[in-house]
Amino acid sequence: MKHKSVLLDESIEMLKIREDGVYVDATLGFGGHSLEILKRIKKGFLFAFDQDSEAIKYSEERLKDYHNFKIIKSNFANMKECLNHENVSKVDGILFDIGVSSMQLDEDYRGFSYHNDAKLDMRMNQKQELSAYEVVNNYPKDKLIKVFYEYGEEKFSKSIAEAICKYRENKPIETTLELAEIIKSSVPEKYRRLHHPARKVFQAIRIEVNDELNVLQKALNDSLELLNPGGRLCVITFHSLEDRIVKNTFKEVTKENELYKGMPNIPDEYKAKYKLIGKFKPTKEELENNNRSRSAILRVIERI
Ligand SMILES: C[S@@+](CC[C@H](N)C(=O)[O-])C[C@H]1O[C@@H](n2cnc3c(N)ncnc32)[C@H](O)[C@@H]1O
Repeated sequence: MKHKSVLLDESIEMLKIREDGVYVDATLGFGGHSLEILKRIKKGFLFAFDQDSEAIKYSEERLKDYHNFKIIKSNFANMKECLNHENVSKVDGILFDIGVSSMQLDEDYRGFSYHNDAKLDMRMNQKQELSAYEVVNNYPKDKLIKVFYEYGEEKFSKSIAEAICKYRENKPIETTLELAEIIKSSVPEKYRRLHHPARKVFQAIRIEVNDELNVLQKALNDSLELLNPGGRLCVITFHSLEDRIVKNTFKEVTKENELYKGMPNIPDEYKAKYKLIGKFKPTKEELENNNRSRSAILRVIERI
């Protein structure tokens, strides 16, 4: 198997799975987390979401021995609506393991990686219109700078955007390696040696193409509402922009009401409805075995 699930033991333990509970895996991917949930819910049910047909095809095969689950092909931003459609309004636990699966990265033709040459694409949902090609070839310079800066925290956003605009005056930028070369040539020599200069820009374009941060915010808000008392939301992220959204959302919903801060008898309606359970990082052993886990953070919250 090509994909190693990240923070698998920690997230499954943190979900506090009940045998008869209803759970959601918001990011089915290769089915690693879903499989572990299914092993533990003999009398329960799992809804698993993914918007990637190939991930779904793979996982259907991997999970074929189980029958108490349903895969929903949708963006997890539509989770609440999709579950309502299934007559489900509350669940006992939700897991997110956000990001690109190693399968998507490995597949040359999807254009997620600056190591493989491919058409500029990066769409997680192959049916949507906006692709990396559109962003790179049609966005005005200012918009490119904003995307690279905000979603990639790239300090050479301006010179990279300028180089892209200059290049595309002659011909469209068609492939990942073509783009990676343009990026490389527009940052100082010293910076090129630190890490691959295309890493942050590729991340930024991917976030823009898939509207990842807005999607995550909506999905987190809906997930918090969907939880039953005692239910947990476990979220694994892979970069600081996403982690910040998770951290701030969890902080906001767990904070005490200002008026009653520190008071002994807080009326029920002013009590926080959620409590923070913790933040986890991969163990040394996992870091050694799975390079993809290096920036992973798991945050866990519980509905009171
Ligand atoms: C890192 S993989 C999940 C791996 C999985 N936990 C496992 O153990 O095999 C992330 C998956 O989430 C999916 N994904 C990412 N963003 C999504 C979104 N907004 N809606 C639905 N699926 C999404 C990707 O297509 C990918 O298959």
